[in-house]
Amino acid sequence: MDWMNQAAISAQKSDAVFFYVFGLSVVFLIFITTLMIYFVVRYSKKRHPVAEQIEGHVGLEIVWTTVPLVLFLTIFYYGWTNYEYMRQAPRDSMVVKVTARQWSWSFEYPNGKQTKVLFAPIGKPMKAEVRSADMVHGFYIPSFRLKIDAVPARTNTTWFQATKLGSFDIECTVICGVDHSLMLSKVIVVPEEEFKAWYFGGESAPEPGKAIQTPAAPPELKNLPPGLALLTAKGCLDCHSLDGKPMVGPTLKALYGKEQQILAAGATKTITITVDDAYLRRAITNPMDEVTRGYPPAMPETELTGQELDEIVRYIKTLK
Ligand code: HEC
Repeated sequence: MDWMNQAAISAQKSDAVFFYVFGLSVVFLIFITTLMIYFVVRYSKKRHPVAEQIEGHVGLEIVWTTVPLVLFLTIFYYGWTNYEYMRQAPRDSMVVKVTARQWSWSFEYPNGKQTKVLFAPIGKPMKAEVRSADMVHGFYIPSFRLKIDAVPARTNTTWFQATKLGSFDIECTVICGVDHSLMLSKVIVVPEEEFKAWYFGGESAPEPGKAIQTPAAPPELKNLPPGLALLTAKGCLDCHSLDGKPMVGPTLKALYGKEQQILAAGATKTITITVDDAYLRRAITNPMDEVTRGYPPAMPETELTGQELDEIVRYIKTLK
């Protein structure tokens, strides 16, 4: 079970604090409950028909003030030092840019490699610079006890050092639309040599150990035609199919030249247009201006360079 797995130093640290607080709570639960039962019996009406007035007790007051104070301070200290640990990535960390978007994750390495799953070498610090392309998401790796918000227009950083080989879930923790629950990816922790072979090597992905389940998606987007690689990397294919099936958005198959009914912003009636270059460009750069009939106005604006837009449009035109 992923939530029990401790697969990074952050998980060990975070669990240590958790079990410390949990242990204290259990001890006090037992202590207080026992005392309560004892008092109920000891001071029952049967034994003490007449209530007795008990004056204060300075010794007791001091004990029950200082003991909880010291305990709370240890909890604070423990929590604070671990929080500091999680905020400060070591200088030699490898920096990975994590981008969240509706509804997928993408990762970019210092040498420009882009993937849909996060490859990480075991025992090496990796710093995640987490951004969002559209709205608030939550970057969460349960086995690492690592969680940080992905917020538009700012970069939040965290880091981890994996201690176990294998494949661990990445999830989104902030409700971000209909496919929020499908916004899943993996961290794949491989031995350092395998990671290096992949990182410095040619096109092929590392062959993670046999016990490791490789995700279905190709880890590397370089081998694809540029337009398709962009559609994948920018998350377009989370909402658009290439095979004719409607998803959240209309399929891109045979879109070019098709007659499409659209509702322009502010208009009350749909109009029929023929999909051409100009329409494709408008639909991609200003998705809210014209909305395809039968679909919700749910397409986010994606930042694209002019060249990227050209590649995407060129590729969509080839989808017959
Ligand atoms: C979150 C889901 C989502 C993502 C991500 C997304 N789209 Fe869309 N897209 C839609 C929806 C929904 C529509 C239909 C409503 C509209 O026209 O705005 C649409 C419409 C379109 C259309 C017009 C289709 C037609 O039949 O008229 C094109 C072209 C398009 N998207 C391309 C892209 C490209 C390229 C990307 C990536 C840069 C992308 N989309 C990312 C949801 C998405």
